[in-house]
Amino acid sequence: MLDRIDHTGVAVDDLDAAIKLYRDVLGMPLVHREVVEEQGVEAVLLDVGDGHVELLSPLGDDTPVGKFLAKKGPGLHHVAYAVSDIEATLAELSEAGVQLIDETPRIGIRQSKVAFVHPRSTGAVLTEIVQPHEH
Ligand code: CO
Repeated sequence: MLDRIDHTGVAVDDLDAAIKLYRDVLGMPLVHREVVEEQGVEAVLLDVGDGHVELLSPLGDDTPVGKFLAKKGPGLHHVAYAVSDIEATLAELSEAGVQLIDETPRIGIRQSKVAFVHPRSTGAVLTEIVQPHEH
């Protein structure tokens, strides 16, 4: 059902410090930076092998990541799995009784299609399904 891990999402309260760590210390090339108003974040993607680290900095306190930071502090936010047909995957998950946050995909960064699965259904791990945009 899931092809591979696409990225791990990390909530940060200091984006510049996080970039220094991941790019300058850990040596991951910074490949993309985008403000996603709809999700209330500024997101930064860094390459590691075939996968990515996604740094998430909230645009305000009253956003999902802002609330996450207030509650839990900076750290691991979600794990994202890549699929080739997100609609089919969401239908399969739903059929299996897995609770979805997004019944239909939304547009994520780099024009990917994304949907989140409720952590209630995945052992408290916020899980994202992503269908990368074909270049
Ligand atoms: Co993500």
